[in-house]
Amino acid sequence: MSLNKSAPIGIFDSGIGGLTVVKAVMEQLPNENIIYYGDTARVPYGIKSIDTIREYALQITNFLLQNNVKAILIACNSVAAAAQQEIRQHCSRRGIPVLDVVEAGTRAAINLQPANRNIGVIGTLATINSETYERSIRAEVPDCHIYSKACPLLVPLAEEGWVDNEIAEMVLQTYLKDFTGKKLDALILGCTHYPLFKPSIEKLLRQNSPQTAIIDSAVSIAVMTSALLEKEGLANGQTGTGSFSCFVSDKPQRFQQLAERFLGKKLHRIEISSLV
Ligand code: DGL
Repeated sequence: MSLNKSAPIGIFDSGIGGLTVVKAVMEQLPNENIIYYGDTARVPYGIKSIDTIREYALQITNFLLQNNVKAILIACNSVAAAAQQEIRQHCSRRGIPVLDVVEAGTRAAINLQPANRNIGVIGTLATINSETYERSIRAEVPDCHIYSKACPLLVPLAEEGWVDNEIAEMVLQTYLKDFTGKKLDALILGCTHYPLFKPSIEKLLRQNSPQTAIIDSAVSIAVMTSALLEKEGLANGQTGTGSFSCFVSDKPQRFQQLAERFLGKKLHRIEISSLV
């Protein structure tokens, strides 16, 4: 089946955190049209079971397919950990390529050619408990040591906007203490919300572990998307800025304000579309 080059790229997440991926894709591919779905009525996914995350993720995938997307980006690490295989199988029947943030983060870490063979990963409980990063990294670098840490408090802190105050610093210090002395080559920010903490994490790592590269999977997936579209002959030929449609399952209070924090600019129109 031949896909329409001007069709939108579908990007989805459990909530608004995936707007960090939208931001990176807009920067990398400004002329592409984008359609985003954030399941704000049912967020957070990171504390839910694998089966529930899969069910929700397939509903969103169907929503994007109905909107005739030419590719799907799984922006949510918890979804990538729980359901990337099912989503890929589902989309391959329609010839729609799928990229996800776990493969993007893994690729970026491996491309660094980790000299010490030590990689750290932080993420939600669902992502860390699934051990998906371990499997994905070891498939490429079998002798790599992977140190993982679930950091469940970081999502609510990011949504509160507390990313660089003393509370955030204390929480980060407590979580990152486990990595002290591990000589990490890289630390993967394995959650949509964590790029917001990047400057604070950098500051903390600089003290004990200055050699550690911080990997933002949002940037990595944007670079991979560009390569995929070129390879598949799917890059949008249009000049000028692409369109952006943002759908959510519920519009919580302060949504607009929060969305701006993740996207880095004003969001003028947000549409509510229920999945069930
Ligand atoms: N988007 C989720 C992730 O990247 C974080 C928020 C949630 O728990 O749903 O894992």
